[in-house]
Amino acid sequence: MAASFLVKGQQRLTGKITINGAKNSALALLPAALLTEDKVKLDNLPCITDIDKLLDIIRSLGASVDSPGDRCLCIDGGNVDRFSPPDTLVNQLRASYYLMGSLLGRFGRAEIPLPGGCDLGPRPIDQHIKGFSAMGAKVEMEHGFIKLTAGELRGANIYLDVVSVGATINIMLAAVKAEGRTVIENAAREPEIVDVANFLNGMGAQIRGAGTDVIKIQGVKNLHAVEHSVIPDRIEAGTFMIAAAATNGEVMVEGVIPRHLEPVSAKLKEVGVTVEAGPDFLSVKGADLLLPCDVKTFPYPGFPTDLQPHMMVLLLKAPGVSLVTENIFERRFGHIDELRKMGARITLEGRTAIIEGGHNLTSASLRAMDLRGGAAFIIAGLMAAGDTVISNVKYIDRGYERIEERFQDVGVTVERMEDC
Ligand code: UD1
Repeated sequence: MAASFLVKGQQRLTGKITINGAKNSALALLPAALLTEDKVKLDNLPCITDIDKLLDIIRSLGASVDSPGDRCLCIDGGNVDRFSPPDTLVNQLRASYYLMGSLLGRFGRAEIPLPGGCDLGPRPIDQHIKGFSAMGAKVEMEHGFIKLTAGELRGANIYLDVVSVGATINIMLAAVKAEGRTVIENAAREPEIVDVANFLNGMGAQIRGAGTDVIKIQGVKNLHAVEHSVIPDRIEAGTFMIAAAATNGEVMVEGVIPRHLEPVSAKLKEVGVTVEAGPDFLSVKGADLLLPCDVKTFPYPGFPTDLQPHMMVLLLKAPGVSLVTENIFERRFGHIDELRKMGARITLEGRTAIIEGGHNLTSASLRAMDLRGGAAFIIAGLMAAGDTVISNVKYIDRGYERIEERFQDVGVTVERMEDC
């Protein structure tokens, strides 16, 4: 059933919140688990619809999945005997492209429909393909499917033309069992890549350098069972940090790796918010008056594109002009038109949004267009005068676990309404 959120305006976030496991790690770890015939145990998985869809996909290949406890799954890929997941499932989920690397790495073949996901502009996968080809895979594109075959994958030196999270992980997946050594240069450095590398190394892989821009992988013959706990979700954490700042609230964000959130903490401090870091928590205290600032998205450790819409909403509160430049995705500005309905003064020039902050927002009916933009609307709703309704929340559910309950836990009213 379709659902909407009702957000009560002019509320302050207060209290504590514990962050869930990282969506973008989990979405790579599940396909990675198919690299072994043994049973793999994953803990701290977030309960989000993207994970449910990915589990349906891996079950459709013959894997069995059971849940021995809360947020914990055992994946048994011993019976995987299909290499072409149904396109109806794959089309809904961008991260299904990790099955290319894992199936190719284990079986030397994969047939995957071109992946779906949020519409953020063109999202090519040429760098993934370039990596697989360099390792000796034959790549054919027909009828919207990518067909990959390889007698034996061989290690290769691969220079990525663009810094890509997906390509870096996918090449790692294909390379762990390849013959010889693979070197990925200009690799992405996101914490989720390190998490996947740690998981694979726990299975017996030999990956060095994850978290730097040169990753070296020495192929091994076999991978075995492992137990692994997913790292905390820095984007979920950043969402609540920015929401606290935007509502002049006071929130303790717990169960995080503060280093992963340094780009966010730095920008919040720049606008006048107090952020203090402990070993595994960040406390955020808003300010009566925010300062404008400029934000440019970059690959990690730059400011994350996945928090660009949230930051834009926060800057609407800062009197003066702020600039937000989106360097990762060409069309990640779908949220601007909706925010204008609330009275937001934002103009777009190329890849830069010019924000004239300091004017109060009014409530409106908004339609979520993508996952992160949708979450940013909740923050805008909390800042605005009156009640905001956000429809199409299936996008938000893809990557945030019961986000309305999480907001309720920090003292604000966000209600889910099932549409008739
Ligand atoms: C991942 C994240 C997404 C995040 C993004 C950037 C997952 C499931 N999703 O997406 O939340 O917003 O990283 O941090 O982890 N590109 C190419 N050719 C390629 C691959 C990418 O040109 O073969 C371009 C893309 O169009 C984009 C840029 O490189 O402009 C970065 O994309 P990439 O890092 O690959 O993003 P995703 O892995 O899709």
